[in-house]
Amino acid sequence: MTYNIDEMKSLEAEFFDRSAHKRTVFGQIPYEADIRRATRFIPSSPDQEAIDPKMTNLLEGKFRDRLIDHVAHRFGGKVLDICCGPGWLALELGRHGQVVDAYDLSPKAIELAKRMLEENPYKDGFGSVTYHLEDVTSLDLGTETIDSISGWSAFHHLPDLTSFMDRVHQALKPGGIVATYDDLPVQRLSIWLGRFFRLLLPTCDRTYRQKISDSIRRILGITKENPEYFTPMEEVAAKDKSVFDFANHLYDEYDILYDVRFNAFACGPAMTIKGPDWFRYLMAQMIIGLDRALCRVGICKGILRIIIARKRGKDKR
Ligand SMILES: C[S@@+](CC[C@H](N)C(=O)[O-])C[C@H]1O[C@@H](n2cnc3c(N)ncnc32)[C@H](O)[C@@H]1O
Repeated sequence: MTYNIDEMKSLEAEFFDRSAHKRTVFGQIPYEADIRRATRFIPSSPDQEAIDPKMTNLLEGKFRDRLIDHVAHRFGGKVLDICCGPGWLALELGRHGQVVDAYDLSPKAIELAKRMLEENPYKDGFGSVTYHLEDVTSLDLGTETIDSISGWSAFHHLPDLTSFMDRVHQALKPGGIVATYDDLPVQRLSIWLGRFFRLLLPTCDRTYRQKISDSIRRILGITKENPEYFTPMEEVAAKDKSVFDFANHLYDEYDILYDVRFNAFACGPAMTIKGPDWFRYLMAQMIIGLDRALCRVGICKGILRIIIARKRGKDKR
């Protein structure tokens, strides 16, 4: 299948415009806009997304913090944050004293990011953040001027990753950091474990009756499996196999500082468990613990991957 890339980018922008609208329609602050000010929102219908900062921290907090520390390796460092969405990572990097330029295609996401920046109450030691409504693949990234390039759920949305990674390498100073967080394809076992825990536990997306009926329909083949890719550009980029071999772009010219896969199946159940908080967080901790254990012994593979790499060169730290 061939794609008209410009058309797919417009569809991508529309997709994330809708997403920014949906995430703020009741006046919520989504996690994707500001992880410190995100407002808790436990949805009552399946088309709404939960915002639960404590749960998100349990699922990915320690990995996220490590990525931020590496990207902000130099106080006052110049950072490029690609596909920034509503801007949480750029904002957080600004709070770590970085001078950040952040880019996204979605007007609504950039609008929300700018509002969050204006309202930011954490000003101590703040560097600067500039949000741009622009296609990151059409930028001139320059030569050896950038200290760090970050992308959270970003690189796997880009077509022709190989040529983009060449420009990333050229743009980074020697010793500069590239830090990525991406979703990988889900294994069948992880899909089934995720479904099992969602069926077992009370969840806010469906009643037990609906879940049992959905399971029967799936087993009988009446319901089609969900597509693996959710956004237009994820679908385009997935056809370029380089996305799955991301680390191969890095091995020759970078030192890999951190490469971790986590959360094989825990995200879905954890973000939808219903009940009093003590129950939700206890169940989530048990599922996350099991997930980590199964990943550690190699039975499951995390669907989220963070890679942090340092460009080789004279200024190697
Ligand atoms: C999954 S979202 C991640 C957003 C953000 N990094 C976060 O953590 O919430 C992917 C983002 O990539 C943006 N995007 C996709 N292709 C892009 C491109 N070529 N240039 C800039 N942004 C792009 C989309 O608009 C979307 O906001």
